[in-house]
Amino acid sequence: MKDLLSRFGFHCTPFTREFGIADRYPLQVYDDALKGLTEAIDQRMSCALVAPAGTGKTALLRSLVHALPEARYRTHYVKVTGLSKRDMCREIAAALGLPPAGTYPSLVRKLQENFTETSETLGLRPVLILDEAHDLRVEVLAMLRILTNFDMDSRLVLSIVLAGQPKLRDALRREELDDVAKRISHFATLRPLSRDETQAYIEHRCAIAGAATVPFDGGSLDAIFEIGRGNLRATDQLARKTLGIAHDSDAGTCCAAYVAQAKKVLWP
Ligand SMILES: Nc1ncnc2c1ncn2[C@@H]1O[C@H](COP(=O)(O)OP(=O)(O)O)[C@@H](O)[C@H]1O
Ligand SMILES: [Mg+2]
Repeated sequence: MKDLLSRFGFHCTPFTREFGIADRYPLQVYDDALKGLTEAIDQRMSCALVAPAGTGKTALLRSLVHALPEARYRTHYVKVTGLSKRDMCREIAAALGLPPAGTYPSLVRKLQENFTETSETLGLRPVLILDEAHDLRVEVLAMLRILTNFDMDSRLVLSIVLAGQPKLRDALRREELDDVAKRISHFATLRPLSRDETQAYIEHRCAIAGAATVPFDGGSLDAIFEIGRGNLRATDQLARKTLGIAHDSDAGTCCAAYVAQAKKVLWP
C-alpha cells in the first residue's frame, strides 16, 4: 500500500504544529493582534494576548518573536505553569541563561540586573513572553509588577507579554492584581475561524504540505467545520485523523463519513 503522504501528494505531514513563519495562514485578525502587540512593545509597555485554547496564540507568539528585530530586542519565551514565585523566577533565570539558584529576592534582583544590563550595556530591549499565563498562580502574576518596576518606576526597561485563555483576563480583574493589570497597555485577541475561513485554512495547510489538489470533498469540509467550529487545533486534529482513515480505506479523497469516524476516534 502507498504511504499516506504519497497517496495525497504531500511532501511533508500536513496539519502539524511545525510550519515556517512564511507558511502561516494569513488573516486580518492575526495581523491586527500582531500589530497591537508590537506597538505596545515598541513603546516599552507590557501587553497580553487573550484567546480560547487552539485559536493560534502560541503560533502568533512565534510570529511576534520573528517580527521583533534581533538588533533591537532580546526576547525570552517561558511556558511553565503552577509554579511558586521562586520557581517561576528560576525558570525565567534559566531562560535568560542565568544560574537558576538563590532565594526569591535574590533571584528577582538578578533578573532585574540582567534586564538592565541588556538594556543599558547591550542596547537591546528585553521582552519576556509568558505563554499559558492563565495557569499562573495569582501571586506569580502579582510578582510581575515587581519585576517590571525599575528605579521606583521611573524607567521602562522590560516588556512582558502574557498569553493565555480568557480566564487570564478574569484573573487580571481581581483587586489584588490591579497594579499588574494597569501595566498591560494593550489586550490583543484571536477568534475561531468562520466556515469559509476554515475551508480556506484546510486548503492552505494542504498546499503548504505540497498537495496539488485538496483531498477533502465539500461534504468533509462542512463536517470538519460543524465539529471543529473553526478552532484551529480541533480542525488540525480532525483533518489529520480523517486523512489517516481515508488512507486506511484506500480512498483518494476524504468524505464526511470519514470525518465522522475521525471524530469518534478522537473524542469517543
Ligand atoms: N496562522 C496560522 N497558520 C497556520 N496554522 C496555524 C496558525 N495559527 C495556528 N495554527 C495551527 O493551529 C494549531 C493551534 O495553534 P496554537 O498556537 O497552538 O493555539 P493556542 O496556543 O491558542 O492553543 C497549531 O498547532 C497550528 O498548527
Ligand atoms: Mg498555546
